[in-house]
Amino acid sequence: MSVSIKSERELGLMREAGRILAITHDEMEKALKPGVSTWEIDRLGEEIIRGYGCIPSFKNYRGYPASICISVNNEVVHGIPSKKRILKEGDIVSLDAGVIYKGYHSDAARTHGVGRISSEASQLIQVTKECFFEGIKYAKTGNHLNDISSAIQAYAESFGYGVVRDLVGHGIGSHLHEDPEVPNFATKRKGIKLRPGMTLAVEPMINAGQYSVKWLDDDWTVITEDGSLSAHYENTILITEEGPEILSKV
Ligand code: MF3
Ligand code: CO
Repeated sequence: MSVSIKSERELGLMREAGRILAITHDEMEKALKPGVSTWEIDRLGEEIIRGYGCIPSFKNYRGYPASICISVNNEVVHGIPSKKRILKEGDIVSLDAGVIYKGYHSDAARTHGVGRISSEASQLIQVTKECFFEGIKYAKTGNHLNDISSAIQAYAESFGYGVVRDLVGHGIGSHLHEDPEVPNFATKRKGIKLRPGMTLAVEPMINAGQYSVKWLDDDWTVITEDGSLSAHYENTILITEEGPEILSKV
């Protein structure tokens, strides 16, 4: 397994990819309203990304048929946008998007509520975001990958939530998925030692109920096995001597 160290030139491109991705997320969030279809959100996201001269990295990735992954309520990740999927008040929607700028990737996900949502749903969204920030407290030179992973798990489980085991975060750079895998749960091995210039997509996927998931017949959409709500929060980060730098931000 080889984990690449990015040069300043590469990091400049990844910062620009991340900036454009963050803008795309902000615009998609504004468009989330009752009555809007997930297909419309996908169209909007792709238009913005291409408007900046970038490529939506998920499109056709291993045959994925859209640009944005849009997962509603009990859907965990990789929901396929559809004209028939109309958002309604109270839904929670995870938007996951990737941008390629001059050959370099950024990957980020956010979960939002549509109109007024239950307090249970809003706590899940909030805690999932906090899981990311708890994890990256440990994203600094000399720590090990498992320091990030175990912090995420401990925080999520302190709320009684289930941490998805079947999907993980990943290294990222000139490819969407690079080494290493970045689990959101503790592993027996302490994992690689973190070094400056490593870039990671850290992406907690947290279920309100049990951690187990299953795949729908479309072979993409992942849903919670117990039907509980699920949330996703992801950023592309850079390891530095001082700590993490979030690249997927404006
Ligand atoms: N954020 C997801 C990941 O890191 C997005 C990949 S979805 C796909 O795996 F459509 F591109 F496959
Ligand atoms: Co990712």
